[in-house]
Amino acid sequence: MDLFEYQARDIFEKHGVPVLGGVVATTPDEAREGAEKLGGGTVVVKAQVKTGGRGKAGGVKLAHSPDEAAQQASEILGMDIKGHTVHRVMIAAGAQIAEEYYFSVLLDRANRNYLAMCSVEGGMEIEELAVERPEALARIAVDPAVGIDAAKAAEIVEAAGFDAETKDKVAEAIQQLWTVFSEEDATLVEVNPLVKTADGEIVALDGKVTLDTNADFRHPEHAELEDAAAADPLEAKAKENDLNYVKLDGEVGIIGNGAGLVMSTLDVVAYAGEKHDGVKPANFLDIGGGANAQVMAAGLDVILNDAQVKSVFVNVFGGITACDEVAKGIVGALEILGDEASKPLVVRLDGNNVDKGRAILDEANHPLVTLAETMDGGADKAAELANA
Ligand SMILES: Nc1ncnc2c1ncn2[C@@H]1O[C@H](COP(=O)(O)OP(=O)(O)OP(=O)(O)O)[C@@H](O)[C@H]1O
Ligand SMILES: [Mg+2]
Repeated sequence: MDLFEYQARDIFEKHGVPVLGGVVATTPDEAREGAEKLGGGTVVVKAQVKTGGRGKAGGVKLAHSPDEAAQQASEILGMDIKGHTVHRVMIAAGAQIAEEYYFSVLLDRANRNYLAMCSVEGGMEIEELAVERPEALARIAVDPAVGIDAAKAAEIVEAAGFDAETKDKVAEAIQQLWTVFSEEDATLVEVNPLVKTADGEIVALDGKVTLDTNADFRHPEHAELEDAAAADPLEAKAKENDLNYVKLDGEVGIIGNGAGLVMSTLDVVAYAGEKHDGVKPANFLDIGGGANAQVMAAGLDVILNDAQVKSVFVNVFGGITACDEVAKGIVGALEILGDEASKPLVVRLDGNNVDKGRAILDEANHPLVTLAETMDGGADKAAELANA
């Protein structure tokens, strides 16, 4: 889960990373109040969107008074930055910047390790710097078992080429940023710019944090960082029902049991779709092992409410999950949905209690349901129906 800058700022503060005051605002009036709260002096009004390049897009503006902050906020709120609408701004205390640096630490999946990156040339164009002059961006592997201790921080600032009077302070900030990364279970902590102010202090002026949602069970407090307004409504509904659902952009709704089977079903449907005008899977949905009729019905409900879905392929291999439960779920869901259910379903069942399951579907004899004998046959039928 990506955080907004103001949320990253709060977390930085909690772990002792030096930051400046910041207040979030959703209206120009709140922006004026925020600027007053920060002392009434110079502030920076910053668009809060989960994408980079806000400054270049006109989403970061200086204001010399609370009234000017309100004025800037009225211009930035509602702005579109790379497809993200600005609903909030952060009013940040203005810093006297002497120098801008870059620091990040992230999960390096390719090398199964953590990676720290640091540069004395921070600011807005770090991506270009990394391509054009890679030597200006130090890259130092971080052993997960050790983390960024004093020795590792010293190695990082040395490699980045900080001067003698700055490097100790930066090394200290880097160790605090590591604490954020490790204690909050993040996969990315990036500060661009990390600045040296006119009076020689090191301050994190911008923050990007990505939290590892696999560690949510260790952080009940992270739940409130979620941006409920931005969540896909179908994904939110699936989450409420504890379903493993990911929305994709095709036309064939998919339900299966077990992540492996669902992944293969996506492949088989994508392949079958090539013969039917290129229709594609509309989602990933794993109802898991031992799913009962209720879970099946909840899954179908989510998928049938996806306007993009034209047909549904239910592919279940009964192990712990019994096929008759799945069949009951399908019949039950169709009953509840009544006339709202208007999309054809192709059902392939195999394994535990398959005969009972098929018998239930045969008996219900629902006009929208087609039984398939094989996975390939079912995928082909579902793709054909999606393209009809
Ligand atoms: N509190 C502040 N005081 C003074 N200047 C600031 C402050 N915050 C940001 N700036 C200036 O604005 C520039 C851009 O700010 P910031 O890094 O937050 O946005 P950005 O880099 O454009 O956005 P993103 O990181 O999303 O690409 C900074 O490099 C810095 O020069
Ligand atoms: Mg930045």
